[in-house]
Amino acid sequence: MSQDFQAASEEANSLRTAIEDHNYRYYVLDDPSVPDAEYDRLMQRLRQLEAQFPDLITPESPTQRVGAMPSDSFTTVEHRLPMLSLDNAFEEQDLVDFDRRVRDRLKREEEVTYCCEPKLDGIAISIWYEDGRLTRGVTRGDGASGEDITQNVKTVANIPLKLRGEGYPKTLEVRGEIYLPRAAFDSFNKKALEKGEKPFVNPRNAAAGSLRQLDPRITATRALEMCCYSVGFVEDGELPGSHRQILEKLKEWGLKINPLTEVVTGAEACLEYYRSILEQRDGLAYDIDGVVFKVNDLELQQELGFVSRAPRWAIAHKFPAQEEMTVLQAVDFQVGRTGAVTPVARLNPVFVGGVTVSNATLHNMDEIRRLDLHVGDTVVIRRAGDVIPQVVSVVKDKRPENAAEIERPGTCPVCGSDIVQLEGEAVARCSGGLYCAAQQKEAIKHFASRKAMDIDGLGDKLVDILIEKELISTPASLFTLRAADIAALERMGQKSAENLIAALEKAKETTLPRFIFALGIREVGEATAKTLANHFGSLDKLQQASVEELEAVQDIGPVSAGHIKSFFEQSHNLETIEELRAHGVQWPDIELASREGLPLDGQSVVVTGTLESMTRDEAKDLLVALGAKAAGSVSAKTSFLVAGEKAGSKLAKAEQLGVQVYNEEQFLAKVKEWQGS
Ligand code: IVH
Repeated sequence: MSQDFQAASEEANSLRTAIEDHNYRYYVLDDPSVPDAEYDRLMQRLRQLEAQFPDLITPESPTQRVGAMPSDSFTTVEHRLPMLSLDNAFEEQDLVDFDRRVRDRLKREEEVTYCCEPKLDGIAISIWYEDGRLTRGVTRGDGASGEDITQNVKTVANIPLKLRGEGYPKTLEVRGEIYLPRAAFDSFNKKALEKGEKPFVNPRNAAAGSLRQLDPRITATRALEMCCYSVGFVEDGELPGSHRQILEKLKEWGLKINPLTEVVTGAEACLEYYRSILEQRDGLAYDIDGVVFKVNDLELQQELGFVSRAPRWAIAHKFPAQEEMTVLQAVDFQVGRTGAVTPVARLNPVFVGGVTVSNATLHNMDEIRRLDLHVGDTVVIRRAGDVIPQVVSVVKDKRPENAAEIERPGTCPVCGSDIVQLEGEAVARCSGGLYCAAQQKEAIKHFASRKAMDIDGLGDKLVDILIEKELISTPASLFTLRAADIAALERMGQKSAENLIAALEKAKETTLPRFIFALGIREVGEATAKTLANHFGSLDKLQQASVEELEAVQDIGPVSAGHIKSFFEQSHNLETIEELRAHGVQWPDIELASREGLPLDGQSVVVTGTLESMTRDEAKDLLVALGAKAAGSVSAKTSFLVAGEKAGSKLAKAEQLGVQVYNEEQFLAKVKEWQGS
């Protein structure tokens, strides 16, 4: 054995120990010892060593979690001991009755000690260890046999590939629940929706779907976790005499158990545990659907035995469901403070997740289409954690014949302005802007803010009060305020009232970029407002600009151009601007550099495709500096098109219209010519 190999082998061993220690502290003790970056470095180094010396790789190496190739199907395996289910208690009385039955059967009057655990809402799994090494993972299936999903189970980061410590039986079957924590579920769904893919209905389905993947590399991306709650088959080894002690052993051996597990005596204490966990439910990182009570003493468990498919020594006390069915009565459209128009489901009231729900958000029209939702449909509502209730699916079989399609209104239900939805945007918006009552507050706060009209002393709180007292309703109405009205407000004296009036007077003398920014046009921030002001020089020119002309401005894309265009198409917005001017709001126009005498004066040019020597924006700047107007699309009026690599539809259009086209080389030669002229 070479010295190098020997040294690498020792280093790999110590890296593995360190990584396993970190995993244990992170997943089982919930007490991470090193930052993630350090952990990543250890893994990286181990991978490096194993790549250099493949003989060092062991099946339990932390690098081997996602080694296996996709398979065609899962094989079915029989459980050595059946995986049972639990009887359910729904009312407190059910639990009291259960405890009574237990004591009657045991023929004892004294109270029984129970181990209490949260009931995780995931997928039941059996995992097997031989000599401390993970050998197999099987789903519960029908309880008698399940599917062999060993390769997927190995990708679950908190399942140890090798048990820690000592004293574990030679053969050990551990049972527990694999679940997807809520945060991982939310982020998975967010990404799925962004990509236009189907989201999971709830974390349990997500866990099931992830474990059912034939390609373990997909499972590995899902951030699943396992929490263990019992042992199954055991050979060649001793286990302690109570359920709680067994769980403690599992923890010692590196398996995660639920930290909220408690041992209590008597039915009343069980009920207290139930109430306390129910209270914590919304704040937990994962979904639970109840608690489980298990007679703690294994001898007593044996004495009690089983009835049909459930033990007599355990019961699940269920929480109110987080998913329920109800009927969709109507869909209303609400306008948010930014103008976003959101459909809201009006439901037959239903008790779900511990509260009565009669409304649920539907996000946007895409979501309605994705769900294929109709008014009159029976829907599944989910309310988990503190999250607002969601419509997760439609029960298609229950759709009545008169179910109605849902359509978005064309005009804003608050102010009557057109609702516009730009191409590529999921959200529809009211175009009422400054005029729409739903958006007034935000519009006025923005209008008054420092980088906009900079009205000194007019903070957000004061805006709220002024609107509440109906002293203002639009930005223009600010200029009708009188000192006496303001002074009469709580905590406002004569002096501060006068100061505010003076600040309003001062704000009337503004600049074009500030005014454009103050209008609160979507996608038009401070920098864009400046660009627009410098490009067009006056508000009138900006107001009259076509979408093509807007798109030709540097950094203005089709979305911003669309928002600007639709803002100035709304008569309400134009009226507001007129009112502001009438109150004396003014600014100097910006003198545009004269193009006269420049070589490309009067020419309209378009740049498309990828250029090698500069970016498209740089090319446009160059052309503008030479006197040209850079446009966003090709038309018969286009003087010439500069087409770089991978030019597409614009090139085709230019050719079709017979517009002069320059490739990059020709363009650069032309530039020299123009610059020389
Ligand atoms: S004990 C014989 N403990 O609930 C007893 N089950 O309805 C076997 N579950 O399929 C189960 N959390 O997947 C037990 N702390 C817990 C549990 C739990 C969730 C699931 C389990 C089982 C179902 C029984």
